Amino acid sequence: MKIGCFQFKPELNDFESNYKKIINTSEKCDLDLIIFPELSTSGYLFKDKNESFNAGQSYLSSNLFNSLTEISKSKNLIIVYGFPEISNNKVFNSAQIIFPDEKYNRIYRKTHLFYNEINYFDFGDTGFFNIYYPPFDINIGTMICYDWRFPEAARTLALLSSDIIVCPSNLVTPLWPKVIPARAIENKVYFAISNRIGKERVGNEELTFNGKSTIYDCEGNILITSGFNDEKLISANINPNLTRNKSFNQYNNIFNDRRENYYFK
Ligand code: ACM
Repeated sequence: MKIGCFQFKPELNDFESNYKKIINTSEKCDLDLIIFPELSTSGYLFKDKNESFNAGQSYLSSNLFNSLTEISKSKNLIIVYGFPEISNNKVFNSAQIIFPDEKYNRIYRKTHLFYNEINYFDFGDTGFFNIYYPPFDINIGTMICYDWRFPEAARTLALLSSDIIVCPSNLVTPLWPKVIPARAIENKVYFAISNRIGKERVGNEELTFNGKSTIYDCEGNILITSGFNDEKLISANINPNLTRNKSFNQYNNIFNDRRENYYFK
């Protein structure tokens, strides 16, 4: 199975140009699964909730979801992208997972909000879930960006049988490349970090997003990575079956060896 991450600079509040880029890239790619960054339809650093709502409204009134659904079906391509989701008068920092067979479609709402996101997003309420997609025999778990700081997120997805954790991101600290390989090893899962590039400024706040989108195998090795600041589609082949036997010698199995009675809840 061939998967890819498209690293680019979403333009803040310039929705149409972001939609075009996501559509064009999905149309052209030669993949089974493509992952776009967090909030790739809208940009990230909103002023306030009015602005995140406006971005959510633009998404709702656009044709993006329908266009990507068509592409997903015609190319047999799974598409994951971050977007601001309006639901019941709330706005979530969400990821849409579109499958060629749309009955598998799901939305993940970011569980852990980062920095001043609490001013313009509601806390996600979907929790972590795994989706098994029979046509590709793959288990996909989703988290978004700052969720990486919580080992419980990856562990939960792995215990739910995810073979790969896809992580649309707008990462700003240099720490995550030290951690994600460990999450991959301790859970024996693939990890795909689709990060963005560029800067955003609102008032005195400026954030620099640090690229380096990376696909890790289930032993924490880098299969492919990109630069700090280049627009790029990276891709790699994965074998979901390699993640399913959690034993690494005749005695040890990383799931069966867990001693939950001794863990702090
Ligand atoms: C982040 O959660 N966007 C760092």
